[in-house]
Amino acid sequence: MADINDIKTAFLQELASAGTAADLQQLKVKYLGKKGILTAKLKLLPTIPAEERPVYGKLMNELKMFIEGEIEGKESEIRDAERRSKIASEAIDITLPGKYTKPGKMHPISTVLKEIIDIFVSMGFDTEVGPEVELDYYNFEALNIPKDHPARDMQDTFYISDDVILRTHTSPVQVRTMERKKPPLRFIAPGKVYRCDADVSHTPMFHQVEGVVVDADISFSDLKGVLEIFVHLMFSKDTPVRFRPSFFPFTEPSAEVDIGCILCGGAGCRVCKGTGWLEVLGAGMVNPRVFEMVGYDPERYTGFAFGMGVERITMLKYSIDDIRMYYENDIRFLRQF
Ligand code: DAH
Repeated sequence: MADINDIKTAFLQELASAGTAADLQQLKVKYLGKKGILTAKLKLLPTIPAEERPVYGKLMNELKMFIEGEIEGKESEIRDAERRSKIASEAIDITLPGKYTKPGKMHPISTVLKEIIDIFVSMGFDTEVGPEVELDYYNFEALNIPKDHPARDMQDTFYISDDVILRTHTSPVQVRTMERKKPPLRFIAPGKVYRCDADVSHTPMFHQVEGVVVDADISFSDLKGVLEIFVHLMFSKDTPVRFRPSFFPFTEPSAEVDIGCILCGGAGCRVCKGTGWLEVLGAGMVNPRVFEMVGYDPERYTGFAFGMGVERITMLKYSIDDIRMYYENDIRFLRQF
């Protein structure tokens, strides 16, 4: 009987100094395992005098259950302590200042493109789109620029195949839209265009906004009125606008539109090359040849069209003299807008 108490005392001492789950596991093996102390004692049961055996057996069983219970209790104590220290080490100090993330911003080209679209939408224009990978037919042929026409030299084209190119302007959307819809028409077509060209004022990809109005009695004065309103809303209401005769195969007559230099106010500076004027877009009355190509009756309908470069307008608006800045993704540049 005495050894039962000795075992218990020894066990309790060892339990007290067990600090980890591994220590407990060792204790379990030592006392309850197949070759453990209790198991060994129980094996001796048959050697004990028959009259003492039931009492001894009962006490041994109680000791076994006692040890199991103590180990379990200590196990859950250790698990709780581990959980508490994990929570403590992962705690967040909510009194610390947060990390500042600089918010994103619209790219200046996107901002100006949106402004241009908003101005024309306020004048009742719809928006149309067309593919950037375009057929030679829509980019040139249907716009009255035949295969060997010298006007093709004006635009350095990226060829995909003989008949497929990257569109060099948004004008093909004029043709695609007129093929699909009947007059009256009043729409703009914003989008990316591509030219094999790169210097301070050219990037291989840039943006244009095309505009078209077609109806029974559209005149050059309608064109002048719409573009003057556009310039006044885009720049300022005192910005002078001037139309200069020009040539585009898809318009007749054609014009280039200048605005009074917004940097020098017309006196002449480096940006306007001393002329006091800045070219902002091309325009004209839709050539009857283009109407014939899309199956409109040129005797019945007239119309005007225009096309502008978004990068160019943005450069003028913000006095930027190198177009490549837009696409270098230098955050110091972009953050200024
Ligand atoms: N497509 C011309 C270009 O990229 C711009 C242009 C000029 C468009 C006159 C027009 C227009 O619609 O009427 O240079």
